[in-house]
Amino acid sequence: MSTHDTARIAHHRRYLMCRPEHFTVDYSINPWMDPARPTDTANAVAQWQVLHDLYLRLGHEVELIDPLPDYPDMVYTANGGFVIGGVAYGPKFRYVERAGEAPAFIDWFDANGFTAVTPRETNEGEGDFLLAGEIILAGTGFRSSDASHAEIAELFDREVVSLTLVDPRFYHLDTALTVLDPVVEPGAEPGIAYLPHAFDEASQAILAERFPNAIRVADADGAVFGLNSASDGRNVIISPRATGFGAQLRERGYEVHEVDLSELLLGGGGIKCCTLELRGEAS
Ligand code: ARG
Repeated sequence: MSTHDTARIAHHRRYLMCRPEHFTVDYSINPWMDPARPTDTANAVAQWQVLHDLYLRLGHEVELIDPLPDYPDMVYTANGGFVIGGVAYGPKFRYVERAGEAPAFIDWFDANGFTAVTPRETNEGEGDFLLAGEIILAGTGFRSSDASHAEIAELFDREVVSLTLVDPRFYHLDTALTVLDPVVEPGAEPGIAYLPHAFDEASQAILAERFPNAIRVADADGAVFGLNSASDGRNVIISPRATGFGAQLRERGYEVHEVDLSELLLGGGGIKCCTLELRGEAS
């Protein structure tokens, strides 16, 4: 079946976000971060608020976790866990600068009705794990370890497809690949979009085979963090800089919403990084 001309359906989402009240860049753990460049915390909060309010306007639910003063990267809640069916696999951050966020996320899951699982292996949550239909796409190469892929396969009893990232600018899977259809019929191919050059050849071949209808995004759109986007199946929120990707989405019947998180890009994060999916028992 062609993926064109389909009536796109918006699916209700529940997200976890963290207001960037303490946002700054005072260390560098990815190529986007330059502590010598000034940041503007008020601007970060204002830009973040636009994304937050858009989710509400689209009918989604947003939960908030309190920002910790010593953890300026906590705004990137995608790294705070990976949640399916009410089970929240906690993070174990690669770098010490973010290590202290992990217990805060685990406590939040515990206090909010999720079954929190403390991980054995290094992983950065939904930054590197994306649910695509029944399977989990899992990134490695920079942050989450191969061993964490095996750990989530066992925990969630799902097939995990490992993908190797090779470009340091795209250090988390969610900077190079986005799932456009969060809910599909069993066995159906969910719409995804990805930046082929961010992956090694073996991973590109896997993606081409498993997702023949995927949108392949141009390097120019990838380079402006265009793939770091959120979708409910109909509404896709992307960076205004990713103009080519926007056109590809419209052509396939998605509704495109532009939100500029330029301030948060100074920390190497964007729309998806600020958004963690809370999949409950029934979703
Ligand atoms: N400064 C953060 C880090 O390097 C940015 C995290 C972005 N998050 C994401 N899901 N891609 O860890």
